Amino acid sequence: MDKKFKRTLVTTALPYANGPVHIGHLAGVYIPADIYTRYLRLKGEDVIMIGGSDEHGVPITIKAKNEGVTPQDIVDRYHKIIKDSMEELGISFDVYSRTTSDIHTETASEFFRHLYDKGEFVEKTSMQLYDEKAGQFLADRYVTGECPHCHFDHAYGDQCEKCGTSLNATDLINPRSAITGNTPVLRETKHWYLPLDKWEPALSKWILEGHKEWKTNVYGQCKSWIDLGLQPRAVSRDLDWGVPVPVEGAEGKVLYVWFDAPIGYISNTKELLPDSWEKYWKDPESRIINFIGKDNIVFHCIVFPAMLMAYGDNYQLPDNVPANEFLNLEGDKISTSRNWAVWLHEYLRDFEGKQDVLRYVLTANAPETKDNDFTWSDFQQRNNSELVAILGNFVNRVLVLTHKYYGGVVPVPGELTDTERNTYAELAEIKKRLSDYLDTFHFREALKEAMNIARLGNRYLQETEPWKLAKTDMDRVATVMYTSLQLCANIAVAFEPFLPFMSHKLADTLHLDSLKWENLGSNDLVAAGLEIGAPELLFEKIEDSTIQAQLDRLARIKEENKIKQWQPQPVQEPTDFDTFMKLDIRVGTVKECMRVPKADKLLQFTIDDGMGDRTIVSGIAKYYDPADLVGKQVCFIANFPPRKLKGVESQGMILSAENADGSLVVVGPTGPVSPGSQVK
Ligand code: MF3
Ligand code: ZN
Repeated sequence: MDKKFKRTLVTTALPYANGPVHIGHLAGVYIPADIYTRYLRLKGEDVIMIGGSDEHGVPITIKAKNEGVTPQDIVDRYHKIIKDSMEELGISFDVYSRTTSDIHTETASEFFRHLYDKGEFVEKTSMQLYDEKAGQFLADRYVTGECPHCHFDHAYGDQCEKCGTSLNATDLINPRSAITGNTPVLRETKHWYLPLDKWEPALSKWILEGHKEWKTNVYGQCKSWIDLGLQPRAVSRDLDWGVPVPVEGAEGKVLYVWFDAPIGYISNTKELLPDSWEKYWKDPESRIINFIGKDNIVFHCIVFPAMLMAYGDNYQLPDNVPANEFLNLEGDKISTSRNWAVWLHEYLRDFEGKQDVLRYVLTANAPETKDNDFTWSDFQQRNNSELVAILGNFVNRVLVLTHKYYGGVVPVPGELTDTERNTYAELAEIKKRLSDYLDTFHFREALKEAMNIARLGNRYLQETEPWKLAKTDMDRVATVMYTSLQLCANIAVAFEPFLPFMSHKLADTLHLDSLKWENLGSNDLVAAGLEIGAPELLFEKIEDSTIQAQLDRLARIKEENKIKQWQPQPVQEPTDFDTFMKLDIRVGTVKECMRVPKADKLLQFTIDDGMGDRTIVSGIAKYYDPADLVGKQVCFIANFPPRKLKGVESQGMILSAENADGSLVVVGPTGPVSPGSQVK
């Protein structure tokens, strides 16, 4: 930080209240923002962290329609789940509000009206897609169709999720209404546009010249937007869910969700600090940091800043926008609609009291510079071999030994040796690197440095071996235990931003009254003579069965999705009747059926084919109890050459149909026919 600021406003992207939050949101936005904010608080800085639910936009209305409830019902449900679960994870918002609040409606409305009165909008009448059956205009996610760039068939009217291009609904090839499936028609409507082109020189100067220190992914995206040339953007929509456009003659129109949502940052600050909110927004000695995911970059770096510049009145632009990439889950993209996610509220239910484990794993694996993958085996591994084996182990050994040798009273240290001096010197180095990483939003690296304190502690114990010294030199043991306890106290401080539950528990045990960053590195945080609390395990091993239960859940979801997304195979190349006639398909009656030994897939049939007994082996053992097939009539191909399967000669092939989940159902006639009849 070259410039000194008086206060910091940390904002977190407002999650859409159309579903709960998942690990992707946490790793990308809320955990990093919380780490940063807690760090500034430990440093005694003036900082507030604000958040809230984004409760407008089309996906919410579609979900409401599908469920037969109102959009308000949807957002009430998810706002509560999101707010409660983030609180339980220790995300320390100073305020967590929502964009359906009165204060937000007023603030967003006033913001629009102010720009309108200043003449900052361009009013344009244009042709927009209209669904005649539904009787409404279709914007954004109300339309799907083919992407004009990559030709993906399920692009939305605001964005193609395949190639990431942002679109206008009218750009789509073969558009379809998401409400009725109808092909929409074009109808005239009026909207207000923010002329981003007007702000292009200012934006370019501010970002491309003024903020070269931004993360390369953020800077790069901004540069390519600006290089492509900025266009006016519509900031209103023909919808009945949102903040009404506060202009006469705008009935049936609301503010575009991406116009009102970022204003939510302002409304939330107002809600928190009705009398002093302005100093966080308008004082050049304040700084604003926006924590977001990469899909939000353009709105935070281009659109919202243009809105703020257009508003004037000293509104400050963000000082940094440390956007993260995406977190995948077990190799696949996280998706709310496909239920491919680890949901925070479910995690908290399944892993009670393990908030810090999730915080740890998501930070250690944060998608800071590239997309990253969350896997349950990595989760288990990091818990068992890092949190338990390194951090928990060190602290536990120190507490147990202090109780064993000193009845839990911190001993008076003797002379320090080089071992202690080197340990403290290394601690000072760690503190320096740790602070640098936190200052520059490198949270993964920062967490590694915090862990290095525990590693340092383990090494110190390994070198000094107090359990051996106890037999010969109790003076030296006093020094070692005293020093180790100081390292534990340092751990409580250093980890507070990352693992607050562990940190506060440890601080309680050591009776540290307040945690301060300036204390990090100190050698006298726990005073001699103080009686510390009983040792309690900070982390516990996670068993394979617990992990397997999560993997089983994901496997079930994959299966369900396969069935939901199943589509018939495209029809094959044309053929002709003669080709068909060359296949001799017949009906036979199953006389016997049994499993083939040592082949878990195979059933062996004895079929009455009208001429005698025929043996056929078929790979359907997973789907049938052999006894259930006896007496049934089945279709088989009679003129395939015989072939051996697991030692049994099969004289033909039984026909079956394949289900969406890959299971097979044997095909037979719908009424009785003579064995040996041909199928034509
Ligand atoms: N709801 C948006 C999303 O999840 C983020 C909105 S951020 C705000 O992508 F700035 F608009 F609030
Ligand atoms: Zn595309």
